[in-house]
Amino acid sequence: MTDSGASRIFVFDAYGTLFDVHSAAARYAGEIGPVWERLSEIWRTKQLEYTWIYAATGRRATFWELTERGLDYAIAATGVVVEDGLRARLLDANRELSAYPEVLTVLRALKDRGDRLAILSNGDPDLLERIIDSAGLDGLFEHVLSVAAADTFKPHAAVYRLAVDAFDMPPDRMTFCSSNRWDVAGASAFGFSAVWINRLGRPDEYPDMPPVRVLTSLEGLSMPMS
Ligand code: LAC
Repeated sequence: MTDSGASRIFVFDAYGTLFDVHSAAARYAGEIGPVWERLSEIWRTKQLEYTWIYAATGRRATFWELTERGLDYAIAATGVVVEDGLRARLLDANRELSAYPEVLTVLRALKDRGDRLAILSNGDPDLLERIIDSAGLDGLFEHVLSVAAADTFKPHAAVYRLAVDAFDMPPDRMTFCSSNRWDVAGASAFGFSAVWINRLGRPDEYPDMPPVRVLTSLEGLSMPMS
């Protein structure tokens, strides 16, 4: 630990924040054809929409089931011809999404200075284990928290409470980082000190549920919080 201050707690969203959700379709862009980016956008959008509907209606599904349904919808909506082999490879690639380039370096730096790190994600426990392992991020996180333990999805408060319980700390003592603005809104409403990793330069929204800070990647996290 350095002498730059007390250790901080960082809780990271996974998909879109640490892992590039479009890296699965990008890997097979040649086979999918020019529509690959649209397919990937629809896949992600539907995957998320399904989680919101299941959380709001109190129904159960695994994140993986919703991921598969999102892909099937995206294939149907784009009309792209995807034979079974490609569908299976896209799903496999989704289990091993690439981490964004700065992720390993920044997380290592934070951990080396004594900060405490966790993941809090919609992902099923086995999915999180595999994606962390395949990206070489194992050993960095004190807690890998899946919504499965809360039996719902973000932005249900029961999910954010998992981090409070895991660290036994009030939410305002933790920095929750997400590139998903709606997740930042949920975390902010819950009481976290939320940082929006605005990787794509999107306009701000949810003015009554703001982040405390906006960054374009994880890089700025190693700087002292103002
Ligand atoms: C997650 C989704 C929201 O990892 O990206 O929880």
